[in-house]
Amino acid sequence: MDHFSYIDGRLHAEGVDAHGIVERYGSPVYVYSARTLREHVATLRQAFAPAAPMICFSVKSCANLSVLRLLADAGCGMDVVSGGELYRALAAGVAADRIVFAGVGKSMDEIRYAVEQGVHMFNAESEAEMARLDEAALAAGKRVRVAVRVNPDVADAGTPAKTSTGGRQTKFGVPLSRAAALFVPGRHRGLDVCGVHVHLGSPIHDTRTYLAAIGRIEELVAEVERGGGRVDTVNLGGGFPAHYGRSEGGAELVDMGRAICERLEPLRARGKRFIIEPGRSISANAGVLLTTVEYVKQGWDRLVTVLNAGMNTLLRPSMYGAEHFMWPAQHGSHTGHWNALAGPNAFEPTDIVGPICETGDYFALGRPLPPMKSGDVLAVFSCGAYGMSMASQYNARARPAEVMVDGTEVREIRRRESYADLVAHEVDGMS
Ligand code: LLP
Repeated sequence: MDHFSYIDGRLHAEGVDAHGIVERYGSPVYVYSARTLREHVATLRQAFAPAAPMICFSVKSCANLSVLRLLADAGCGMDVVSGGELYRALAAGVAADRIVFAGVGKSMDEIRYAVEQGVHMFNAESEAEMARLDEAALAAGKRVRVAVRVNPDVADAGTPAKTSTGGRQTKFGVPLSRAAALFVPGRHRGLDVCGVHVHLGSPIHDTRTYLAAIGRIEELVAEVERGGGRVDTVNLGGGFPAHYGRSEGGAELVDMGRAICERLEPLRARGKRFIIEPGRSISANAGVLLTTVEYVKQGWDRLVTVLNAGMNTLLRPSMYGAEHFMWPAQHGSHTGHWNALAGPNAFEPTDIVGPICETGDYFALGRPLPPMKSGDVLAVFSCGAYGMSMASQYNARARPAEVMVDGTEVREIRRRESYADLVAHEVDGMS
């Protein structure tokens, strides 16, 4: 559950009127709810209580320093996938030994940086990467903890192809059949190869996908131990669901957590520890994008609503065909959560498009929405994950501001970019 709701037809983020935010910080703007972020961490902790995993927030989903700081205060570690994300997590005050480092293409510089900082664990994705890790560890005189990210050849039918990572045709991980050999003691003198990592895709709708992967992990652990190796940590990755629409199917987080923990019990009983890397299940529903209607126009055969935000601001609809619920920030007299709005299908369908010069720049096609006019504020829900973190300056459009609401307080946590910011890194190479 999140804390975006309507009071007398006006959208509020916790106790703050959305229109007031737009007046003060401009539009488009990403708005996060601190209470929602904290509650999502608590929900996950409760859902996974029997396995008591270390919860490493997936920084790529929402990388703002203030968000990371809030989540670290709520007890989260961090999952990072680049030197830049590691820098962000450390800058937010996260202890290095609460950070896991994943990613298929870690450079030697990134590896050295993370070894020097002393991250909790690397999730290694290939034999070649492990050789590099070994070299960096020996050079630093440190013993580095490593989990082998395996490709279990388990995929969820409901995950978009572009974000499905557990299948054998993807670039991720070490094929399960080759993994046990990497745990053989003495193979890497600088490494403590003691973990198994999987990330099956984002999002995973069917709990059975996790259960199938855990079965394969169990077999691998047994094989490793028969070969004299050791596994003390199992990392299940992320992909736990968020709510994007009003009537979406898929398992609820709490039920999913319970079933996963039951399936993990034999491993837990043998002393294994667990890590999960949730991104969207913490941040997606904790953020909305507020955008303003520039124009409403009649096309040949359709109504087109042009916003001041587009694929540069929120890429998910263009990139994955993702469907985000959206609704005017002021309409009617509804009081209650956005999920309980009545009668959205009664309105004339309109294409909701951005200002970018590409046909694929839309948030929705043929979406029934209440009539809107220039200047109206539209709220796009479930935008806290992979919203701002994937925003770009395409078409030389400055990226929006981000604000954090906590109760009745609003704080700007990233300034809107200016025209000067657009050219700040360019040097005159022509004179
Ligand atoms: N762990 C690893 C190793 C990952 O690659 C990811 C996401 C996560 C954890 C977190 O997954 P989550 O819990 O947020 O689903 N841009 C796409 C999603 C890409 C996900 C990439 N990896 C989107 O907007 O849906």
